[in-house]
Amino acid sequence: MGGDRPWWKDAVIYHIYLRSFADSGGDGLGDIAGLTAHLDHLRGGPNSLGVDALWITPPFPSPDADFGYDVSDYRGIDPRMGTPEDFDRFLAEAHRRGLRVLLDLVLNHTSIEHPWFAESRRSRKSPRRDWYYWRDASRHRRYPNNWQSVFGGPAWTWDEAAGQFYYHMFLPEQPDLNWSNPAVRRELLNVARFWLDRGVDGFRLDAFNVWGKDPALPDNPPRFGLRPYDRQVHLYDMDRPVMDAALADLRALLDGYPERMAVGETIERDSPEKAALHVGEGKLHLAFNFAFGASPWRPRAFLHAVERWEAALGPERWPSYVLSDHDGAGRHIGRYGGRHPDEIAKVAAAMLLTLRGTPFIYYGDEIALPPTPIRRSQILDPVSKHYWPFHMRDPGRAPLPWNASRHGGFTTGRPWLPLHPGYPSRNVEAQSADPSSVFQFYRQLIALRRGSVALRAGDFHNLTRRPGRGWAYLRQAPGERALVALNFYRRPLRLALDRSLPAGDWRLALSSAPSTPAHLEGDIVHLAPFEAAVFLEKS
Ligand code: GLC
Repeated sequence: MGGDRPWWKDAVIYHIYLRSFADSGGDGLGDIAGLTAHLDHLRGGPNSLGVDALWITPPFPSPDADFGYDVSDYRGIDPRMGTPEDFDRFLAEAHRRGLRVLLDLVLNHTSIEHPWFAESRRSRKSPRRDWYYWRDASRHRRYPNNWQSVFGGPAWTWDEAAGQFYYHMFLPEQPDLNWSNPAVRRELLNVARFWLDRGVDGFRLDAFNVWGKDPALPDNPPRFGLRPYDRQVHLYDMDRPVMDAALADLRALLDGYPERMAVGETIERDSPEKAALHVGEGKLHLAFNFAFGASPWRPRAFLHAVERWEAALGPERWPSYVLSDHDGAGRHIGRYGGRHPDEIAKVAAAMLLTLRGTPFIYYGDEIALPPTPIRRSQILDPVSKHYWPFHMRDPGRAPLPWNASRHGGFTTGRPWLPLHPGYPSRNVEAQSADPSSVFQFYRQLIALRRGSVALRAGDFHNLTRRPGRGWAYLRQAPGERALVALNFYRRPLRLALDRSLPAGDWRLALSSAPSTPAHLEGDIVHLAPFEAAVFLEKS
């Protein structure tokens, strides 16, 4: 570890949905000991993927209204996920392998069952009353203001016992904390300090830009949109100055420890410009940009997303790339794979892992696991229930199949969500044994990237200005250049470059079509169907 560049710029980061990774206890839910037992898959084993860091969804005690995103104790470990000792063992074992660990901090809201909320709702005089947003009904209408929940319905819920409404950006079971209260801010910073002292390498910050609201709670102005939530400009319920101040405090805390970092999830997830606002000195190290993965399967769309992201960040701030996640984006194989899931998974992987920025791989994508078909009666996620069939999160959260045995070796019990029915053939063991698998291609890409300063740190130069069926770009660092050429479709492609390649000894370093690999002919790259190729030139 160490070096001149911060580790997170060079890292490949793997996103683990903890409940679905590996179950050690037989209750059908993934847990920390299960994850620890499978770290060989990620790093340090004979057939590891070779990633550098991982982020895990919240392991904290939770009544599971939102499966861990409603936290009832920020310093504890949910007994179903393991014990605090299991967590320490996991952290030590990950570190022993050179794997960094980022923890998902959900600090915008607690669970309705958090003791702070219980105290807060008890009486108007409770010292914790002001830790949340309590308001009387408005005189003229029902709710204190017009704010809507991003998960559907009004953002205010009446609490009979408390005699007031409370505010929640997400579910009624997730009341928002009042970040304008200095005691709240202090306490939440202490939560971060607690886990840093425990040894984690940083955080994924859940929905951080909705920390803090305008204290006067004015109505948001209207705009055109589909859902009630979208029919207003979110002027007063997000991106408030108090959030910037809190982020600065958190950054100062992180900077007090060696080599720690934070990556943030902005609400209004498809705006790279908004995400970029929160990256930089005194702010986040990285932010997610979900607009990239929302691109249709067309080279021009991805190029546009990259250019927009690079322009929003400028040369100093570092990009990140995500194709899939446990939320709205789901699994990209479902969006792009069509009748050629493996071929397309390889092209997508090559793109994700060779752009300028830190790539995030969502668990299961390394075996091109498709979204799992879920019947309406099987849905567990409240958001999927509300928005069925338009917005579904369960299909992208299914258990990871490790092998062809019952329940894919994920659990000896009954899995909490069904496995993908294709698991007898599409699983980690089968893909590890197959040299031409998506998994092996990911391994090769990650290894190539690790050994290439151009791929990790080089500048990005587009080589196809109006890409049609294929896309090529250059990554350029002192002493090394990489040419990435991608054929998005199923016919062979003669891809003409708009700019001449710098002269040199260009060698094919990796191809997803090794039997008919790409070759260069002047400023033309010849690509096989669905081929992803990387050429290197060292001076
Ligand atoms: C984030 C999480 C999502 C969760 C929500 C509320 O968007 O990624 O899973 O439901 O925040 O905490």
